[in-house]
Amino acid sequence: MSLRGATLSFGQRTLWEGLDLDINPGEFFAVLGPNGSGKTTFLKVLLGLVELSAGTAELGGRPVERGSRRIGYVPQQKSFDPDTPLRARDLVGLGVDGHRWGIRTGVAKTSRRIDELLGFVGATDYANVPVGQLSGGEQQRLRVAQALAADPAVLLCDEPLLSLDLQHQQAVSALINRQCHERDSAVVFVTHEINPIMDYVDRVLYLADGRFRVGTPAEVMTTEVLSELYCSHVEVIQANGRLIVVGLPEAATHHHEDSHAVAGEVG
Ligand SMILES: Nc1ncnc2c1ncn2[C@@H]1O[C@H](COP(=O)(O)OP(=O)(O)OP(=O)(O)O)[C@@H](O)[C@H]1O
Ligand SMILES: [Mg+2]
Repeated sequence: MSLRGATLSFGQRTLWEGLDLDINPGEFFAVLGPNGSGKTTFLKVLLGLVELSAGTAELGGRPVERGSRRIGYVPQQKSFDPDTPLRARDLVGLGVDGHRWGIRTGVAKTSRRIDELLGFVGATDYANVPVGQLSGGEQQRLRVAQALAADPAVLLCDEPLLSLDLQHQQAVSALINRQCHERDSAVVFVTHEINPIMDYVDRVLYLADGRFRVGTPAEVMTTEVLSELYCSHVEVIQANGRLIVVGLPEAATHHHEDSHAVAGEVG
């Protein structure tokens, strides 16, 4: 997938400008940045849901379009309504056969694939529970299974580790990594925490305050680069193989609450 001169502005505010980028099959591409920096919007551009203000976005040599079957998507977390009349396995099943009108695979085969996917995310025990009764993390694991169901060429994940305990963070990261490096999918993985996926990430796009930087984690996750992005001194510390970013500016950490307050008042 490729972006050329990609620019996105909402009114006066520019999220990013002049982004040139190719993300290749088999590449694990992480998108980092503070709340409101444009990570989700970046995925929505690739999904064809948000139009660029300038530049082009292509997937497989053609302009991005809505509803592409080649894309698996794990949306940023929302809860299912408690009364949602779907069981866990029904939800995963939508990913397996939901869009294959006319060429439905056999019932037994579909069922086996659903069982396999439920097993991948450790959801076998709650396969028949209505999704609205599951915990946030249990629901999140199903969304990952559903996104993987069609063996997508491109997998877009928006904070897929949110509300997962450490064990399931590791399991889900490893699963997405397999889809990437064994099934050759291009993975775009939005996250606030690079540490759980540090071993898998090939490149990082770091967004902050209208600026961005692309490169390997070693190139981007440094005191110099992040200080430049935030226009403020931040320190990247390595401890026990983990990266810790210290001294993030207030604006970067509080933007989210602000934007929610505004959204709440309007809508
Ligand atoms: N349709 C829209 N119209 C106007 N502004 C928008 C629209 N969509 C997003 N924005 C604004 O663009 C900014 C980036 O939003 P986005 O959801 O991409 O942030 P994010 O990096 O995913 O943040 P978070 O970490 O909180 O999920 C926000 O300030 C948001 O309010
Ligand atoms: Mg987001």
